Amino acid sequence: MVLLVTGGCGFIGSNFIRYHLRAHPEDNIVNFDKLTYAGNPANLADLGTLSAYSFVRGDICDRKAVDSVVERHRVEGIINFAAETHVDRSITGPAVFMETNAGGTNVLLDVAREHGVQRFVQVSTDEVYGSLGPEGKFTEETPLHPNSPYAASKAAGDLLAGAYHHTYGLAVMITRCSNNYGPYQFPEKLIPLMIANAAGGKKLPVYGDGQNVRDWLHVGDHCVALDLALRKGKPGEVYNIGGGNEWKNLDLVKLLLSRMDRPESLIEFVKDRPGHDRRYAIDASKIARELGWGPAVSFETGLAETVEWYLANEGWRKTIESGEYREYYRKMYEDR
Ligand code: NAD
Ligand code: TYD
Repeated sequence: MVLLVTGGCGFIGSNFIRYHLRAHPEDNIVNFDKLTYAGNPANLADLGTLSAYSFVRGDICDRKAVDSVVERHRVEGIINFAAETHVDRSITGPAVFMETNAGGTNVLLDVAREHGVQRFVQVSTDEVYGSLGPEGKFTEETPLHPNSPYAASKAAGDLLAGAYHHTYGLAVMITRCSNNYGPYQFPEKLIPLMIANAAGGKKLPVYGDGQNVRDWLHVGDHCVALDLALRKGKPGEVYNIGGGNEWKNLDLVKLLLSRMDRPESLIEFVKDRPGHDRRYAIDASKIARELGWGPAVSFETGLAETVEWYLANEGWRKTIESGEYREYYRKMYEDR
């Protein structure tokens, strides 16, 4: 299969490409990424020059560019990771979230329809369901109730994806996953931020009372689920993906501090995120039943390896924080 991976220079996309090239060496992957602040080609530097992999810099909102990459590479499948993804940024600047997550997704779907692309996975999030109380879990039947501009823009993308299946028969599978952790996550997100701050002896900013709950899944397990959805998923279906691994933010931060042998006095309670969802929890029984998926990485092992990875790759984080890599790649791709 020739697979177009959009947003492959980000956290999950880069992990997915690495996984996919190993699991399916017969496939060709074209990574199409705009290289926003979150996109870093260095996330895939270890791939070297593989003939099965190519990179095209481009914006999913740019119809001409998407059309040209799909046509030139004779793309047969698309997996859409490209998105603006940080809830806090969506609160301070929502416009680009609708442009990319809704508008860009619409461009991809429409080009896929025109070119007869055979499989399309829309990578979405549990945040489209809104917030849970202390009990219950999100199922695929839970009504959409997005609360942040990020979640609303992802829900818009999901609705478009569903409509392209219903109206045009495009083979779209929508996946909704819980919070991911693992290597190459941009250090504005909870786990890499807390590891970096703890390592540097800085304060760890916990929003509100720290009692918000997230369901954490290792990124490698997410990649396996996405691969199954791509190959075996039923068109038009939604698949929830989750770790069955709920943690209150404060408990998770304390666990990280104890793993790193740092004092809890580094924790600092800060002003809460406006509209902060209280609890997410996923019922992943459908994908287990229908596609045979389940998480394989224990949180104990996954988190220990993740802490180790960030500590061993401080240089990677520092280049990101300084913005140095962006200038380097901007120049490199502009010069072509
Ligand atoms: P990320 O922010 O690390 O990476 C996003 C990537 O998309 C970057 O490489 C960026 O350059 C690229 N991009 C952004 N706008 C683009 C555009 N207009 N055109 C082309 N490329 C563009 O994100 P992530 O955490 O890897 O998330 C990937 C996908 O998974 C997103 O769709 C997100 O909604 C979804 N998701 C993430 C999580 C999580 O915990 N991180 C959980 C569930 C679902
Ligand atoms: P985040 O990694 O931004 O993911 P999401 O908001 O998509 O779930 O945040 C995870 C949780 O951690 C969320 O409840 C907000 C909280 N949080 C903090 O308490 N402090 C922080 O500095 C960050 C970035 C997040």
